[in-house]
Amino acid sequence: MYENIRYEVKENIGYVTIDRPKALNALNNEVLDELHDVFTKISEDDSVRAVIMTGEGKAFVAGADIALMHSIDAVQGRVMMIKGHGVMNLIESVEKPVIAAVNGFALGGGCELAMACDFRIASEKAKFGQPETGLGIIPGFGGTQRLPRLVGKAMGKKLIMTGEIIDAAEALRIGLVEQVVPPEELMAEAEKLAKTIASKAPIAVAAAKAVINNGFGMDMKTASALEIEAFTAPFSSQDKTEGMGAFLEKREPVFQNK
Ligand code: CAA
Repeated sequence: MYENIRYEVKENIGYVTIDRPKALNALNNEVLDELHDVFTKISEDDSVRAVIMTGEGKAFVAGADIALMHSIDAVQGRVMMIKGHGVMNLIESVEKPVIAAVNGFALGGGCELAMACDFRIASEKAKFGQPETGLGIIPGFGGTQRLPRLVGKAMGKKLIMTGEIIDAAEALRIGLVEQVVPPEELMAEAEKLAKTIASKAPIAVAAAKAVINNGFGMDMKTASALEIEAFTAPFSSQDKTEGMGAFLEKREPVFQNK
């Protein structure tokens, strides 16, 4: 039903694969629309407790579509960037953990897509960068904001202003990814992380994701107040009774997302 992505759910894990290998999975309006649609579905599907996103072929995503951007004017470019931000913000705010399994090139919009996810596990073959200044533009799907937040302001500036492409080991060193694994272990490692989080109480996982994201840029006092409010939803859930009851009864909890 999609033309540029594949989506399936197996054992409570949603798998999103960007599948436009002839253009190294570059993001055009159609791919962005399909990603928006699939993450809307994911947000409404209680059976999905974690998401893994990857790319088909040798790229994760090699950026926004350069041929498309070459052919459009600034007004259309702005509309495309708004669309891109909409997708990145949706992924960042969806109430489930999203893991980027970065199999290859994650450049420009591809690096930005990976950064909108909660976690990045990279294949040893992955390459990262924001090469936009070499094309006469700047990152437009959130890179100027998410990259400095992940790797620090100066390192973010360096990568964006130089357009340098870095390998997975360097991405790990600067904190752009959390883990680097051999290519053949990439999906298994992503699944291990997805299954671990999927085994926890979904309401608690969702509340943790939201409060970490929302409190990140706040001062400590305001963020603490936010955490106290965020504590209430999981604390009043049936899964809290189940989780604590299971601990006291020395058994594994069975969470129902209630
Ligand atoms: N947009 C459109 N098409 C792309 C693309 C992109 N971002 N990246 C690669 N392709 C296409 C190539 O044009 C080529 O198509 P043809 O076979 O029709 O010629 C095909 O994918 C294969 O690419 P290459 O032959 O270049 O493959 P390679 O292995 O020699 O090089 C690469 C791989 C280093 C990733 C190189 O393709 C490359 O540099 N791509 C562009 C990376 C880039 O600059 N990304 C940033 C885009 S701007 C952006 O993303 C803005 C934003 O923030 C929103």
